[in-house]
Amino acid sequence: MKTACAGADLMELRLDGVASPDLRRLLEHRPCPVIVTVRHGSQGGRYSGSEANRLAVLQNAIDLGAEYVDVELFAAGELEPRGNTKLIVSHHDFEKTPADLRVLHQELRKTGAHIVKLVTMARDICDNLRMFELLRSTDVPTIGFCMGEEGQISRVLTKKFGGYLTYAAPERGREAAPGQLTVSELRELYHYESIGTDTEIYGVIGNPVAHSLSPAIHNAAFQEAGIDAVYLPFKVADVGAFVRGFRALDVRGYSVTIPHKSRIVQELDEIGPLSRRIGAVNTVINRDGKLLGRNTDYMGALRPLERLLGGNGAHSLEGKRVVLCGAGGAARAVAFGLAERNAKVVIVNRTHEKGVKLAEEVGCGAQPRESLCDLAYDVLINTTSVGMHPNVDETPVPKEALRRGAVVMDAVYNPPETRLLREAREAGCRTISGVEWFIDQAAAQFELWTGMKAPHELMTDVLLMRLGAGN
Ligand code: ATR
Repeated sequence: MKTACAGADLMELRLDGVASPDLRRLLEHRPCPVIVTVRHGSQGGRYSGSEANRLAVLQNAIDLGAEYVDVELFAAGELEPRGNTKLIVSHHDFEKTPADLRVLHQELRKTGAHIVKLVTMARDICDNLRMFELLRSTDVPTIGFCMGEEGQISRVLTKKFGGYLTYAAPERGREAAPGQLTVSELRELYHYESIGTDTEIYGVIGNPVAHSLSPAIHNAAFQEAGIDAVYLPFKVADVGAFVRGFRALDVRGYSVTIPHKSRIVQELDEIGPLSRRIGAVNTVINRDGKLLGRNTDYMGALRPLERLLGGNGAHSLEGKRVVLCGAGGAARAVAFGLAERNAKVVIVNRTHEKGVKLAEEVGCGAQPRESLCDLAYDVLINTTSVGMHPNVDETPVPKEALRRGAVVMDAVYNPPETRLLREAREAGCRTISGVEWFIDQAAAQFELWTGMKAPHELMTDVLLMRLGAGN
């Protein structure tokens, strides 16, 4: 109990996981307030004894003065509340989030519980909206959130909407329910203790999204800037339904990642001219309820290039010969951005026809991969995933094609120095890591959302720390 309660305000004693609990002794030694629960099998518990015995343990916890006792809705009438113990009457639905949560909530509150607990499985991210609406509209102390990966945001946001408490696991691998976060994720990643009614919501829309590093970077940036906001991962299957549904929450801004960057365009109220030409958006800004789409993917690439090339600022790329490796989404954004800066772009792609097609749209050149060694250039940018962890021994560009004095930039940020960048450095090129690209696109988002300068250095430190921890 002593180790588990570190960082928590109170602790749940799940006695259905303890063979013969000595309740008196447990309570005598409790290091913080506790919720005593003996969860019934039908409600996700492991209790296998008789119902009479289960209820006797719960009643005993009340008589011994536990701060909270949690009992299932069907057994609520069997316990006698006494002393200062608060009775939590709970219901869990491990299958779904019912269409009308108020019916269940009404049943729970009719028991006379001090606190009601309603927990349901989110099958779609929009299921959370009904839970938030319930929390917002009730005047009974309510523990309410959704389970599952799609419900994870509600374990954080429940506090904003007035939820009584949230549960967290002491560490990864010791989750008591699907989607549960750890205490340190709640506190250090989402800054749970500072979430309140006015906390603004931001997040990244993607699928999958669990391993996105954007929450770590943006939450750190908001905290550093003193902005009352939380940034969450939104696992979204149907981006249209999500954007429409979540307008009700007045989310202030989104990052958008694979596979939704193109499809989201039609859900927004206004698209920047360059983003429209690119046909993809990675940033959404909420201006007075209007959702504006922008693309900072190309800014992320152009900013560090312009910093390095220096001289005449925004014109430093003008007339520069740029070789762009790849013809996917990232290449597309950068190619349009470079064309707008009047750089002379040549696309080199594994599937040459795809390169030619993109070049035609952008109005630039395309060359087959075999000609890479014959091309003269000032800047070479890799936008493919070649060289990304764990395939760190791969490179998209043969050594012979690396030109002393040229600038070589990689979209891959894991590892921060790819084989391409290492060989380029050794060949006397100036190099720009994918870390800079990633941070600059995130910094541009932060600036579009807040109007403030992004804490660039801190964001870089957070990313590097995360990458270091992950490998
Ligand atoms: P992104 O959105 O990150 O740009 P994408 O749209 O899937 O991702 O595009 C991936 C790009 O990397 C493509 O240009 C792809 O080349 P093809 O058009 O030939 O598929 C390129 N790519 C991926 N793996 C590659 C590899 N092993 N060697 C060379 N190019 C590769």
